[in-house]
Amino acid sequence: MISLKNISSAAAIGAVALSCFALSAQAQGGDSNPAVSARQGQFQLMGLNIGVLGQMARGNTEYDAEAAQAAADNLLAISQINQMFHWPEGTDTESIEGTRALPAIWEEGSTVLDIWADYGAAAETLAGAAGQGLDEMRAALGPVGAACGSCHDDYRAPE
Ligand code: HEC
Repeated sequence: MISLKNISSAAAIGAVALSCFALSAQAQGGDSNPAVSARQGQFQLMGLNIGVLGQMARGNTEYDAEAAQAAADNLLAISQINQMFHWPEGTDTESIEGTRALPAIWEEGSTVLDIWADYGAAAETLAGAAGQGLDEMRAALGPVGAACGSCHDDYRAPE
C-alpha cells in the first residue's frame, strides 16, 4: 500500500525535477548551462588523463604500463562520445558568460569536427601504444597533444 506520505513526497520530487527542467530549458550561461558544464567536464577528464601520460613522458613519474594504458583508454573512450548535445547554438563567448567556446565553432567553414576526428584517430593510436613501453607511449602522445593544441588555438578563447 502506498501511504499518503509517500505520495506527497513523490509529488515533491516531481516538482523539484520539473523546476530543474524549467531552469535548464532557459538560455543560461556558464556553470548553470548543462551542455556547457558537460563539455567542460569532458575536457577536464581529457586534461586529467593526458596529464597522467604527460608526467610519465617527462619523467616526473615512473612509467607504469597499466596506468598508461588506462589513461589512453579513457582518452579514446572520451573521443567516442557523440558530441551532438554538447554544442547547442547560442553557447559561445559572445552569447553567454562562463564559456571559452568561440563563435567560430558554429560558423561556416568550421573545422572543429575535423579536429575532433583527428583527436579520435590520435587517441586510437595512443591506446595501441601506451601500454607497450615509455618510448612507444611518448611517440603516440605527441599527435594527441597536437590535436588539443590546434583546436584551442582556433576555437578556444584565452582565459
Ligand atoms: C575539437 C576542439 C577541441 C579539442 C580536440 C580539444 N579541446 Fe579542449 N577545449 C575546446 C573548447 C572549445 C574549450 C572551451 C569549452 C567551453 O568553455 O565551453 C576547451 C576547453 C578545455 C579545457 C578547460 C575546461 C574547463 O573547465 O573550462 C581543458 C582543460 C581542455 N580543453 C583540455 C583539452 C585537452 C587535454 C585536449 C586533448 C586531449 C583537448 N582539450 C582537446 C576545444 C577542444
